[in-house]
Amino acid sequence: MKVIKSPKEMTKASRKERANAKTIGFVPTLGFLHEGHAALIRAAKKENGVVVVSRFVNPLQFRAKPFAEYPRDERMDISICRNAGVDYLFSPSTEAMYPEGFDTSVEVDGLAGRLEGARIRWHYRGVTTVVAKLFNIVQPDRAYFGKKDASQLAILKRMTDDLNFPVRIVPVSTRRAGDGLALSSRNSLLTAEERTAAIVIPQSVKAVAQMVKAGNRDRAGMAKTLRLMIEKEPMVEVDFAAIVDADTLRDDVYGTSTLVYTAAFVGGKRLTDNVVVKTRT
Ligand code: PAJ
Repeated sequence: MKVIKSPKEMTKASRKERANAKTIGFVPTLGFLHEGHAALIRAAKKENGVVVVSRFVNPLQFRAKPFAEYPRDERMDISICRNAGVDYLFSPSTEAMYPEGFDTSVEVDGLAGRLEGARIRWHYRGVTTVVAKLFNIVQPDRAYFGKKDASQLAILKRMTDDLNFPVRIVPVSTRRAGDGLALSSRNSLLTAEERTAAIVIPQSVKAVAQMVKAGNRDRAGMAKTLRLMIEKEPMVEVDFAAIVDADTLRDDVYGTSTLVYTAAFVGGKRLTDNVVVKTRT
């Protein structure tokens, strides 16, 4: 496995692989890799000649404190990628990605303003800007994203279509711990007590998903129920809870799949979870 720091060198390596008729599968990450990322890497390996993983804590999508606190461990990431059979790990510095004078952003208009996006539009602007840059640097055939971040996935699909990136977006199922908590790099920041309390999040999302499955269409009512169920656990404070159409993220559209989504603070750490339920229109 080759570890590459420079964007130019990464593009050169991708071009060389393409010249050898290899397809490129790409897994963008913030690093601090876990089994959820490994599932994306496995999916990419299955379908491509070459796998590229990026690890980059993107300052554009964080506020200052969470950016500083985000867990980082390059040696562990290198070892996980090597063991998973990754061909290239792209691990650029902030300066390499955002040199002096950097002044462009990519923004998806409508979708990024839905769900809690209205409040954190700047966050999604950071995500779409960095992923657009990464697509141009890595030039992949396929890019793998987790269903764990349902709104991010919908927004990135939209961006890829709208800007004609020649990249196929491949969604991958959420990996969970034995007790149901969705794997996340942020879980490592939880105390043992917080980690136990956090289980209420997947349990409640699952329970409300069952209500959707059973035909309940009162989305506002179910969102309220979701909030109440989670907040029965005093250590957890719901930041956002919503039931929306999974493709458009609209609460007034009833399409083929429905997203039950929540973001909640556990000891000040923001965890998100969701379940998508196939629904008949
Ligand atoms: P990060 O949080 O590191 O996640 C990288 C990818 O792994 C995302 O596509 C995410 O949905 C997926 N993922 C995380 N936890 C998962 C789990 N438990 N099961 C399955 N997939 C999981 O998302 C980002 O980074 C960034 O916003 C990024 C897209 C890299 C842009 O900076």
